[in-house]
Amino acid sequence: MLKTPDATLRDSICEKLTEARARTLLLVAPLSDADIRVQHDPLMSPILWDLGHIAHFEELWLTRNLSGNIEFSEMPGLYNPFEHPRATRAALPLPSLQALMQTAAEIRTDTLRSLESADLRSAHPLLAGGFVYNMVLQHEYQHNETILQTLQLKTGEPYRAPRVMVAPSAGADSFDRMVRVDAGEYPIGTDDRIAAYDNERPRHVITTGAYEIDAAPVTNAAYAQFIADDGYDRSDLWSGNGRAWLADSGARAPKHWSKSADGWTTRTMNVSAPVAADHPVCHVCYHEAEAYARWAGKRLPTEQEWEIAASWNPATATSQRFPWGDADPTALHANVDQLIFGTTPIGAFHRNVSPLGCYGMIGDVWQWTSSDFSGYPGFVAYPYREYSEAFFGAEYKVLRGGSWATRPGAIRNTFRNWDYPIRRQIFSGFRCARDV
Ligand SMILES: [Fe+2]
Repeated sequence: MLKTPDATLRDSICEKLTEARARTLLLVAPLSDADIRVQHDPLMSPILWDLGHIAHFEELWLTRNLSGNIEFSEMPGLYNPFEHPRATRAALPLPSLQALMQTAAEIRTDTLRSLESADLRSAHPLLAGGFVYNMVLQHEYQHNETILQTLQLKTGEPYRAPRVMVAPSAGADSFDRMVRVDAGEYPIGTDDRIAAYDNERPRHVITTGAYEIDAAPVTNAAYAQFIADDGYDRSDLWSGNGRAWLADSGARAPKHWSKSADGWTTRTMNVSAPVAADHPVCHVCYHEAEAYARWAGKRLPTEQEWEIAASWNPATATSQRFPWGDADPTALHANVDQLIFGTTPIGAFHRNVSPLGCYGMIGDVWQWTSSDFSGYPGFVAYPYREYSEAFFGAEYKVLRGGSWATRPGAIRNTFRNWDYPIRRQIFSGFRCARDV
């Protein structure tokens, strides 16, 4: 018997919820109960808190708020991130892992029961097309990446990453060139109301002058040249805030790099190795990216310049959802979805090229842009202002493109991430641009 479109959508949501939880558990499976409970770094939550927060966010949105009558935007209590800032979460009376897993299973039973009667054809924006289910799925995906940041910072023995995929190697091409983008009008953002977040809407047209943007992210080899050229000691390369961060942090290389007699080495989870020349540089903050760009005689792209380079197809005069087209990312397309547990050589995913000729716009490393995080013209917060709007302002810089630790359901050309310009526990790199 043929399934109705509603039943097919419901089945797909159910499968995705199951898959998302399986991934979360795969990531934490190698950890002891003590490693799940302890706070490994003041920047990050105890992983137990993340797990409880994931489950209670699901309970809030997929049962309590499902009628469309939004009572709370975050569950009050232990797992509310606004009531309990990260640095304080180690002191919370968190339950045992076993008790938490039991609660999460009960929440999931209620979620699936509510899903059976949810009206996914409703005109209500929360339910229409399954929006709220996508929101909760992306929330779990995004917390997976947060958990991986914590695991990279783990105290004690390094995290034994359950690697199930091997990084492909790159061809012999050189990616050390820039791509020219003509002056003109280009669409930015999306009107999608099923998968996109409020901060990606509405789609709007911007006008830009001509510019060039790097055909690939900045490599470790290029970044090492910046270091060797005294990049960290030349104050003319750094902004005032950048110099303050340098003085405060004492940084002289990307986070996790260390210098030995044979050169730079780095550690990714439980693998320590010489820094790979042809991989994108990772774990740099905005200030480092900006100083490098100045050293190279370039600048960081704005987020609009980044998005045009990723999405504009001159042959069709339209913007694409991904650099390679509109197909969702798979293991063929880009280094996303975590299971390589690290970056890959530039160009290793040869399909990961935009129509304008930019490689690696999606995956491997988030890419810093020069843009402050703000609402697009006509922005409307939905379904809660604490997802995006509460963070709008000059304190945060926008990052684009997702990293190796990003799940495919939480990245697209229009997706916007943001963080403080001093942060580098994130899987962050960059590419440069310049005016023509
Ligand atoms: Fe959250």
